[in-house]
Amino acid sequence: MSTFLWGAATSPHQTEGNNVNSDWWELENTEPSFLPERSGDALDSYHRYREEMALLAEAGLNAYRFGIEWARIEPEPGRFSTAALAHYRRMIDTAVELGLTPVVTLHHFSNPRWFAADGAWGRADAVDRFTRYVDRATSILDGVEWVCTINEPNMVALMDSVRRLLSGPDGFAALAQGLPAPDEKIGTILVEAHQAAGRILRERTDAAVGWTIAQQAFQAAAPEHEGVLRQTNWVWEDLYLEGARGDDFIGSQSYTSQLVGADGPIPHPPSPDNTITGWAYRPDALGIAVRHAWEVTGGVPVLVTENGIATDDDERRIAYTGEALRHLSEAMADGVDVRGYLHWSAVDNYEWGHWGPTFGLIAVDRGTFVRTPKPSLAWLGAVARSGRP
Ligand code: BGC
Repeated sequence: MSTFLWGAATSPHQTEGNNVNSDWWELENTEPSFLPERSGDALDSYHRYREEMALLAEAGLNAYRFGIEWARIEPEPGRFSTAALAHYRRMIDTAVELGLTPVVTLHHFSNPRWFAADGAWGRADAVDRFTRYVDRATSILDGVEWVCTINEPNMVALMDSVRRLLSGPDGFAALAQGLPAPDEKIGTILVEAHQAAGRILRERTDAAVGWTIAQQAFQAAAPEHEGVLRQTNWVWEDLYLEGARGDDFIGSQSYTSQLVGADGPIPHPPSPDNTITGWAYRPDALGIAVRHAWEVTGGVPVLVTENGIATDDDERRIAYTGEALRHLSEAMADGVDVRGYLHWSAVDNYEWGHWGPTFGLIAVDRGTFVRTPKPSLAWLGAVARSGRP
């Protein structure tokens, strides 16, 4: 039995800084931008990645999930940066040197500008473009045991729906009425991209391959909504979970649980208990999510690749995580094969348009870039040292 992974996660765009070739950078810096805040220097993790890795390792964690940035590796179509690839290889080597098992994500929301400008996932050759990048990325993955192809493809498909809504008349007013569903056509293309990437990775590397799904832990608001719940689950996550059948693992990512009524997902009602992101405080979501992933994939081993809470109150983070782990351990006792728990996030990072929601185990001063571990990091490290959840 391989070692249970205990770690934390980040993504490149949210931490590195100056990811100027990416579509997110463009969205943030085009005037006027609908995003209130910019990533800017972010946490300068492009240069300071060793600092967060060292803090995680010192605390007692044994794994670190981070991503490599397509926009840096392939700044122009078909032109690859050897220096960027070497940079990410150094990150992999640093993690290993510090005793952290690297879990490497190949795509975490941001695209090269040229890919986005050219039709993104809707273009006929999108899958070929992505696999050309994956193919090149395998050159630095020697010895890496865990690779996630695409992070939250269901949210990528959702962003496509949002983009379309915003480009139409009264887009902002329409968006204020609630989020549209993830675009199913784009979702199907993403499944194809994931499976094609998986074939390349299996041929060229020894890594366990999977992708990571945003799970809403949907529940029917009343028994008569079971049918809508099934349809909602399909468009929001099951399409992607079914696309993972036969994979080496499924990455489960959950933060909250949401009710489904006659018209689909019901927005979280305002409550003083809601987290900074406005989500209901539901540590039980993790148990619901991993059981659902296990069931829909037909028994693919689960790696919790994200779980956490946006809060300024670190004691609340510890309480939330402790309870989430209790639900995880109950699911494991019921037979769900769980291979690890990676907390989101290692650091307070750029939350896609905002700096306000703080998910980190480590605080970062964005003026000096000094990293300060929060008590929750030592707490999670102690849990990790004690063994299984
Ligand atoms: C994403 C992260 C994000 C987190 C909290 C997930 O949707 O993978 O990039 O920061 O959840 O919202």
